[in-house]
Amino acid sequence: MTKNDNLRTPEKGSAGKNAKSLDLAELVHALGGRSIVLVGIMGCGKSTVGKRLAQRLGLDFIDADTEIERAANMTVAEIFAEHGEPYFRSGEERVIARLLREGPQVLATGGGAFMSEATRSEIGTHGLSIWLKVDFDTVMARVRRRSTRPLLQNPDPEGTMRKLMADREPVYGKAALTVVSKDVPHEAVVDQIVVTLADYLFDSEDTTASQTSVT
Ligand code: S3P
Repeated sequence: MTKNDNLRTPEKGSAGKNAKSLDLAELVHALGGRSIVLVGIMGCGKSTVGKRLAQRLGLDFIDADTEIERAANMTVAEIFAEHGEPYFRSGEERVIARLLREGPQVLATGGGAFMSEATRSEIGTHGLSIWLKVDFDTVMARVRRRSTRPLLQNPDPEGTMRKLMADREPVYGKAALTVVSKDVPHEAVVDQIVVTLADYLFDSEDTTASQTSVT
């Protein structure tokens, strides 16, 4: 265990910051109009955590999939079924590029969005990306509860999820920040995100990716 690991509780960051005592208005100001963009695999909590994070920071919360559904007047499952995945992906790129120009906000992206180089570049310009890194068992337990995800509607959802995670995690790792969480209450993840953001924005904003854990 390194010196800093002692301080990495759900509420304290590597510099010992406490989520409850941070000046959140100053944190939002330091974003300089950029949106906070949550990326990561299906079931990692982008929408549930994102809503609470937005509430904490006094920002709007936008779910990219919901906006895609609104623009298409169809559900994501219907878009996949009627038009196929490539059609969904190009719509996803367009909608996210548009949403990023309406920040600052907390933007939850679908699990495949960050795989697009064009989208990663848009996010790099107009946002600050955070990978919510969650382990396989936790995401499987969550996605089993809902059958709305077309990529998992097949005879081997576990195998599909393992492959998606293996293919995508190196790309999610390109996010500016990473917050590692297990199955802990969402508010604890929000605390950790706020502290991670503060560490990055107030102390060490540079090109180096930063990672913290909440377990
Ligand atoms: C997808 C994830 C979904 C949705 C679509 C494709 C993916 O979003 O965009 O079903 O490729 O991982 P969530 O990550 O919000 O479930």
